[in-house]
Amino acid sequence: MTHRIVQLTDCHLFSDPAKTLRDIATWPRFTEVLEKVRRQVPDVDQLVLTGDTAHDEDLATYDAVRKELADWEGRVRIIPGNHDNRAALRTVFPDASCGPIDLVTFQVSWDDWQIIGLDSQQPGELPGSLGEEQLTWLRNLLQSAPERHTLLFLHHPPITVQSPWLDRIRLLDSTDLERLVSDHPQVVLIGCGHVHQEVVGSLGRATVLTTPSVGHPFRPRTEHIEIDSVGPAYRLWELFPDGRWSTQVMYCMSPVMK
Ligand SMILES: [Fe+2]
Repeated sequence: MTHRIVQLTDCHLFSDPAKTLRDIATWPRFTEVLEKVRRQVPDVDQLVLTGDTAHDEDLATYDAVRKELADWEGRVRIIPGNHDNRAALRTVFPDASCGPIDLVTFQVSWDDWQIIGLDSQQPGELPGSLGEEQLTWLRNLLQSAPERHTLLFLHHPPITVQSPWLDRIRLLDSTDLERLVSDHPQVVLIGCGHVHQEVVGSLGRATVLTTPSVGHPFRPRTEHIEIDSVGPAYRLWELFPDGRWSTQVMYCMSPVMK
């Protein structure tokens, strides 16, 4: 059976749906992308949000997100970005945590594949880190299922994206993650957010793919922050029983209005 996973990232929502971020109303972009997912991937197995869901980190925002995702009840997985509140996430998405205490992680397994969500937030900081405890938890998970193809999700990319201002705030312990991935060749894919644009790279033998934002998009390869004009997007991951996979980014048409 093919597993279909939709990834949404960097929604940057506010409890007030009219509020804007850099002149962009993020809530209408969120509802637009959800409508596209409903139409295009009616048989989605898991809907994964990879961080920066609530820009205001407000409990009311997470509550509103959960209501908006009611169609996918029981299939929603969520991990934090740098703009998120772990306590609020755990309150509103109580099934979101299965790993080290105080972190917000997830694991979903089938016979052939598993997806694991990692928590790279360092509270109050823009760069990310996984930390020793979480890496040990991940190592144990991978050692217990060496034959299971694995897709890891985390907010902060463990690769550079050719924009110095973003590369300074990437995953700081990417070398530790690289060593772990190299020791466990069943990790074939790593999906990230944080950079608000689509980038492809590698970590050891694993392919790393970042996904464009639902909220305000960033223009690629810039010295400083520049807002791009593309619409909101989601990424579809298709994981096949023999370990092959395919993925594509699906954009909505609405341009950024400035
Ligand atoms: Fe973000």
